Amino acid sequence: MYRNRIRMPALHDKVMSAAQAALLIEDGMTVGMSGFTRAGEAKAVPLALVDRAREQPLKIDLLTGASLGNDLDRQMTEAGVLARRMPFQVDATLRRAINQGEVMFIDQHLSDTVEQMRNHQLKLPDIAIIEAVAITEEGHIVPTTSVGNSASFAIFAKQVVVEINLAHNPDLEGLHDIYIPTYRPTRTPIPLVSSEQRIGSTAIPLDPAKIAAIVITDQPDSHSTVTPPDEETQAIADHLIAFFEREVTAGRLPNNLGPLQAGIGNIANAVLCGLINSPFEDLVMYSEVLQDCTFELIDAGKMKFASGCSITLSGRCNERVFGNLDRYRDKLVLRPQEMSNHPELVRRLGIIGINTALEFDIYGNVNSTHVCGTRMMNGIGGSGDFARNANLAIFVTKSIAKGGAISSVVPMVSHVDHTEHDVDILVTEHGLADLRGLAPRERARVIIDNCADPQYREALSDYFERACARGGHTPHLLREAVEWHLNLEEFGHMLAAG
Ligand code: COA
Repeated sequence: MYRNRIRMPALHDKVMSAAQAALLIEDGMTVGMSGFTRAGEAKAVPLALVDRAREQPLKIDLLTGASLGNDLDRQMTEAGVLARRMPFQVDATLRRAINQGEVMFIDQHLSDTVEQMRNHQLKLPDIAIIEAVAITEEGHIVPTTSVGNSASFAIFAKQVVVEINLAHNPDLEGLHDIYIPTYRPTRTPIPLVSSEQRIGSTAIPLDPAKIAAIVITDQPDSHSTVTPPDEETQAIADHLIAFFEREVTAGRLPNNLGPLQAGIGNIANAVLCGLINSPFEDLVMYSEVLQDCTFELIDAGKMKFASGCSITLSGRCNERVFGNLDRYRDKLVLRPQEMSNHPELVRRLGIIGINTALEFDIYGNVNSTHVCGTRMMNGIGGSGDFARNANLAIFVTKSIAKGGAISSVVPMVSHVDHTEHDVDILVTEHGLADLRGLAPRERARVIIDNCADPQYREALSDYFERACARGGHTPHLLREAVEWHLNLEEFGHMLAAG
């Protein structure tokens, strides 16, 4: 059966077991694997590597598109396989190893990894392991549910292992649009002027002589873990939709809002779901990961096209989409993450970027990655690619975490991912702060009044007023600014004092 999926007959004798293919990976190698937010990761060879490492310890530098599914990051961490990991992860075991300094994690803008490789600022992969639905007559690779960094990994690597996954619907072929920018300094503009446009090929072009092994698998992607909207995420969605309505009325946004990007996680998914009951029509996405809400918007007749670099769905939505691909075929495209997140395109298309903060401060700086300034959560992902260049850079979060012990609005963020210069709009369940055109002292008032939880408003106002009395363009009481996080660490509550 798999022979139909390998349409270049000369490659049929490259089929081998995952254990045999894993022997191609040597201690100290740099490995580029497919996979983006639990979609389309290579599944069998990493597990065979884990088995091998238990008997015969080895370490690799592992690069992917983003996070992996099927518990692979956990298993590779437990087997001690990972020396370095980039550019994004969401696994609790790997997170612990990163925070204990056992795995060196490079938290990177997702559009940047292969660009740095192209310029030899990062080591090229010795080997790429790419999941595919098919290999074409020319020996080119047709990816599965994500493109991520797979195309450039395959092109840059000395050797390529292809995992043909029979669990994926072969009708995925045709959804992808693989475009690789040319080298600098003679690079020409990327010829993409709308979300719907296709500018590349449907398979990853590479010299088939580099295909060293083909492994046949039959293991589905993991399902996403998003939870349905709750009262707070619904309130965040309502504030944003009311804001969009005002922007359309004022003529600052078109009737379909322009291309939308939404980050990972429960809050961003809930916000997009909120658009189902909005007055906007003909919505378009130009985003990275396409979650359940994208398909709910398409099914509701609200969204006419979605461009992403991966599709990650809940169990509920999975069969509906992948079992009926024909229904979505003309409304979808999957691109390399370098293209889905490209600063040139984000700026040109005028994207509205909606991403999630762990915390933001009274002046609009956003921390999306580090708990109490030190402990890595997941990584910056693509949020910076979008925020810096978006038409509107929006950050959303619930106003409190851990039952109110943590305020997501603080005097000074404990780590900065998105500076005040990149952030236009902040939203919590209490309201929306529009920071455009405001100086720091004006921003603080709007953020405290509209976004902070009532139990923290007085303390924030008191801090701000005393800081203003001391002066400065961005007034602060430096010793006190870090006290909120110190209190949390020492006494379990941001406002508790010893
Ligand atoms: N301090 C400490 N922990 C906090 C916190 C804060 N200020 N704010 C939230 N949290 C905790 C929550 O309590 C929750 O913990 P739990 O898993 O133990 O319950 C966890 O962070 C996730 O919060 P949740 O409210 O469920 O939001 P989410 O699922 O939307 O995730 C981020 C929020 C910020 C962690 C996530 O969106 C992220 O990693 N973003 C960065 C990457 C990104 O934006 N990518 C976009 C393009 S890929």
